[in-house]
Amino acid sequence: MQAGTRQSLDRRWYRGLVEPVLPTVQSALKQVEDVSGSDPWDVPRTGLGGAVVVHVARGFGSRGWKRSGKLAVLAVEAYNQRVFLGVPEGADRDALLERDVGRLHRVWSDLLKRDGALVGRVLDRMFASSPSVGDDQVPEAVLFLRGAVAAGVVAGDVPDPVHALLDRHATWLGLAWEAAGGSLDPAGWTGALRAVGLSDGAAPDQFGAVARQQASASLAPLPQGTAAELFESILGHLAPEQASVREPAAWEPHLAPEPSPLHRRPFADGTPLGEFRDRWIDAIEVSIQELASTDSAILARAVRYLHAQGGKRVRPLMVLAAAQAASGDPQRALAAGAAVEWLHQGSLVIDDMVDRAALRRGGATLHTATSVPFAAGVAAFVFARIHRALRGMHPAIRDHLVDAAAALAEGERQELHHTGDLSLDATGYYRIIEAKTARLFAAAAAAGALSVEAPKSTAKALARYGREAGLAFQIIDDVLDYTGDERTLGKVPGTDLRAGKITLPVLLLLDRVPESDRDRLVMLLGRDHAEDHLGWVRARIAEHDVDVDCIARAREHLIRARKAIAGLPGDEGRARLEELAGRFVERQR
Ligand code: IPE
Ligand code: IPE
Ligand code: MG
Ligand code: MG
Repeated sequence: MQAGTRQSLDRRWYRGLVEPVLPTVQSALKQVEDVSGSDPWDVPRTGLGGAVVVHVARGFGSRGWKRSGKLAVLAVEAYNQRVFLGVPEGADRDALLERDVGRLHRVWSDLLKRDGALVGRVLDRMFASSPSVGDDQVPEAVLFLRGAVAAGVVAGDVPDPVHALLDRHATWLGLAWEAAGGSLDPAGWTGALRAVGLSDGAAPDQFGAVARQQASASLAPLPQGTAAELFESILGHLAPEQASVREPAAWEPHLAPEPSPLHRRPFADGTPLGEFRDRWIDAIEVSIQELASTDSAILARAVRYLHAQGGKRVRPLMVLAAAQAASGDPQRALAAGAAVEWLHQGSLVIDDMVDRAALRRGGATLHTATSVPFAAGVAAFVFARIHRALRGMHPAIRDHLVDAAAALAEGERQELHHTGDLSLDATGYYRIIEAKTARLFAAAAAAGALSVEAPKSTAKALARYGREAGLAFQIIDDVLDYTGDERTLGKVPGTDLRAGKITLPVLLLLDRVPESDRDRLVMLLGRDHAEDHLGWVRARIAEHDVDVDCIARAREHLIRARKAIAGLPGDEGRARLEELAGRFVERQR
């Protein structure tokens, strides 16, 4: 054991919990070395979450300790470290975000893929056990311990009744810990308890004693064995954690702005596609609303805020038209359409935090209207609801969407990784947009076919269509980020320039401009307020036909998209898909 580890552990009240599993926790922590290379054990609370995961999985679970177990430890320890590192500025910020997104990708793709039903059960306990989940404040220590328990449950396939008991224990333990640190107030006490269906009218000066006593009592019904005894043994040593400056990570409910009436964005008006849209849009909106429905007033309002911002709804339209192209009834594809739209929506909430975008669909992004931790919590809630909806669908739809979600995270990670990287070439650019955008469109089109039980070959052809259409869509998005108009677009042009994204317009431009202009462009990429120079970049784009050539590339994908579905049986649906992909290239919004 390293000397640093020994010393940091000796000072910690939870040492008894970590020591028996130190080798496992340490092996996960090797992967958590932070970007500055400092010792992960310097961060308060390091080891605690990982130890909880291991004890829960091994002590109460029925499954062997495999890769998913290690990943669960990694996820919890990484979360803890991230919370304490906060949000630095500049290049450090990008490096940290890239690391976060990379881990998210690994954890998601591994755990979600293998453990659908089990993960669903765990998410239900976290997000649906109380009707008012989300309405109350929940202290950080409680969230952290409940999260670690949940990760252990997934890793070890722990039965639900045991999870319920451990969840309560974690809540009481977290409350006792917050009380010991003097950071517990009556709102946090009530909120944490309500989230697990409990209440207790103790006076504030009794919080610590009551919580400790209840934490101990809640262990009694658990199967006897070392794990419960270990939890019991640490209760006597509770101590406040070392103070540090960090992001507020406790759940603090925010009231999202009053949602405006649903903003319907005109799209393809006056065409057969427009008619198709008019025919289905109400049903699409209802299914979108239903998927994320909740009794929590706070979450419901945040969800309504996102919903009412509107959006073109091109993905659910693609799902429905694909169902029709496979000779099925689009009605049967509505649920898949809603899942795809929310996956898109949830990822935009995160994307806007990563891109530091303030405007979306003509209104304030959720994190600017509320706070970053709140918006992240809303995104997690939305993903939990998507997961729940997917459980009722064809397993292949679920696979497509889970793969697309994992690819999306990977695409965002790669994009961050290559921020300002002038060695990125067109192949690298394509790899990024295929992962972050085209895969979801491919999943949308395939999901439409699978919703109506079309043969595999049809779903495959549609996935090819979706992929090509998606590539075209993102290329145009990247052009519009330079040439678009804020009011029409509903987003702030120049965001990619400021963020230093090496998109197709930039790649072509760098190739074509004389050296002095190239230097100026390179200097602008990734610079704060770079959007002030957008006029100059726009003029260079026009001068060198960059937009024209990007659109020509997008059109090549359009041709391939149309070719992919040429043999499909549903003429009407096929024609709508052809039009839809055409709009992707012609769009201004
Ligand atoms: C924006 O997607 C994100 C990209 C993949 C470029 P949309 O342009 O479909 O966004 P909304 O849903 O219409 O707002
Ligand atoms: C697409 O990329 C975002 C996702 C796939 C989540 P962008 O970052 O270009 O999308 P906008 O421009 O913010 O809508
Ligand atoms: Mg963005
Ligand atoms: Mg964009």
